[in-house]
Amino acid sequence: MPMVNPKSKVSGRPKICYRPILPSDLDTIEHLHGKLFPIRYESLFFQDVVNGHDIVSWGAVDRSRPDGQSDELIGFVTARIVLAKESEIVDILGYDSSKSDQTLIYILTLGVVDAYRNLGIASSLIREVIKYASSIPTCRAVYLHVISYNNAAIFLYKKMSFKCIRRLQGFYLINGQHYDSYLFVYYVNGGRSACSPLEFLTGIVSCMRSGLKSIAARLCRNEERKISRWAKCKENHSLVSSTHNKKNMAIEFTRYECV
Ligand SMILES: CC(C)(COP(=O)(O)OP(=O)(O)OC[C@H]1O[C@@H](n2cnc3c(N)ncnc32)[C@H](O)[C@@H]1OP(=O)(O)O)[C@@H](O)C(=O)NCCC(=O)NCCS
Repeated sequence: MPMVNPKSKVSGRPKICYRPILPSDLDTIEHLHGKLFPIRYESLFFQDVVNGHDIVSWGAVDRSRPDGQSDELIGFVTARIVLAKESEIVDILGYDSSKSDQTLIYILTLGVVDAYRNLGIASSLIREVIKYASSIPTCRAVYLHVISYNNAAIFLYKKMSFKCIRRLQGFYLINGQHYDSYLFVYYVNGGRSACSPLEFLTGIVSCMRSGLKSIAARLCRNEERKISRWAKCKENHSLVSSTHNKKNMAIEFTRYECV
């Protein structure tokens, strides 16, 4: 299966298009999840994604790539519709969510191939999800979890006006180690937070802390890139790539949350 070389930056002007994910994307979507996330997903999950069983999804392709690759996924988002009253955020929604047929969209996974990052592809994919959520009259919000060290994703959700409402201690268990997660929410169709002022403040303080870290990471990013490029030239043999690190992680959880 031809895949984008993750190390090379995309050359020329990509022509990014968005389309539904199809059964023919099965191998690619599985391959991309394996590359981009430190957790392993069951094959049933991929079957559900490509067949649209309880899962909605969008893919991004670069039509400017040579024939045979112009329809190959270079980015994706997968999500599920859940009942608000059965969700973990029922307490922060309006008072009638616990008894009505109100729904939410939960983002399961989101990823963009390395070579196509920072081109706004993930932002566009999230906008598709928000548009879809807004088109469902019963839908009140789009929400997701993100692991607390994923600065790129945290920055992205904040940029897109998602609200960080909670920090969940030890939410993820990866390779025997616990990691916190943030819970981000984007309200649609008049959905709104019903949390107490104290909870709201606690959430804000927690998210501001991560925001400061994210800004610092952004400022350092260019410098880091220079250093890592230099390091690659000088000490290629001793570098362990992040992909390699990810592969070595033993995965110990079965849910489908975003990381
Ligand atoms: C997170 C991810 C989906 C973003 O995809 P993308 O297409 O590059 O996102 P976009 O181009 O729409 O936006 C990226 C924004 O984050 C910023 N950003 C990127 N890396 C960053 C970092 N380390 N720290 C802070 N901000 C960062 C970019 O500057 C950009 O903001 P800008 O448009 O204001 O410049 C992508 O990095 C990815 O696939 N990561 C691996 C999988 C993953 O972590 N998925 C999310 C799980 S919750």
